[in-house]
Amino acid sequence: MGILEIKNVGKRFGGLQALSDVNLSVAEGSVHAIIGPNGAGKSTLLNCLVGKLIPDTGSVTFEGQSVLGRKPYEINQMGISRVFQTPEIFGDLSVMENMMIPCFAKRDGAFELNAYGSMMKDKEIIERAEHMLDDMNMADKRDMHAASMSRGDKRRLEIGMCLAQEPRLLLLDEPTAGMARADTNNTIDLLKHISATRPITIAIIEHDMHVVFSLAERITVLAQGTPLVEDTPDNIKGHPKVREAYLGESSGH
Ligand SMILES: Nc1ncnc2c1ncn2[C@@H]1O[C@H](COP(=O)(O)OP(=O)(O)OP(=O)(O)O)[C@@H](O)[C@H]1O
Ligand SMILES: [Mg+2]
Repeated sequence: MGILEIKNVGKRFGGLQALSDVNLSVAEGSVHAIIGPNGAGKSTLLNCLVGKLIPDTGSVTFEGQSVLGRKPYEINQMGISRVFQTPEIFGDLSVMENMMIPCFAKRDGAFELNAYGSMMKDKEIIERAEHMLDDMNMADKRDMHAASMSRGDKRRLEIGMCLAQEPRLLLLDEPTAGMARADTNNTIDLLKHISATRPITIAIIEHDMHVVFSLAERITVLAQGTPLVEDTPDNIKGHPKVREAYLGESSGH
């Protein structure tokens, strides 16, 4: 049994069957990539895991407990954190202030605006946030305005903010989309480091095959809302069904 079990999940939007019969098991401690052409249903599937969408059919369990019907913050409290396609940081705050928010929320269960003043003076939260920034190699950016950072650094901060919640499952939706190659490589190194040094499972949706083949231990190929194949990177490379899904080629040609 995987730490994350997706069984017979289906989701329809009006006349469009966005997901049908999705079965997927993610092994604890692994890096599992979900790839597939535009519109394959990757983000829809991810949204079903984090409480943004409720599938019409099927079940999704994390550590044996259903995530369906739970609010996003409850899923967060279960140990699942998600990195969105566009960095979800507070641009008007400093890097340090950004990092303090999940540290505070982790300890006190939620972050409310009226707690901001006390959070800023809270030694324990300051130390925790500084430790996280160190861990993310961002200590030198502590007082920078978050909006002024490069896309790669914003992503690094966002991943750090997720890790501050100490998740056991980290979900990433195209974390390197729109990034320059150097930032992409830094993100790959960061995720490799996180996977090697923490008891964490990573599920990543990604278009960039360089990222996928650098990180993933298992790959699921989704096409038209259904898993086509699931295998190791070596077996996925050049797989006729994968070529077919991406290029519309028939197998063997
Ligand atoms: N809220 C929605 N309402 C209606 N249709 C939707 C909705 N969300 C997604 N879809 C449709 O469902 C299908 C799957 O979309 P989804 O965003 O999951 O694809 P994706 O694999 O993430 O694609 P991309 O690689 O472009 O991000 C698409 O045809 C999309 O237009
Ligand atoms: Mg998507």
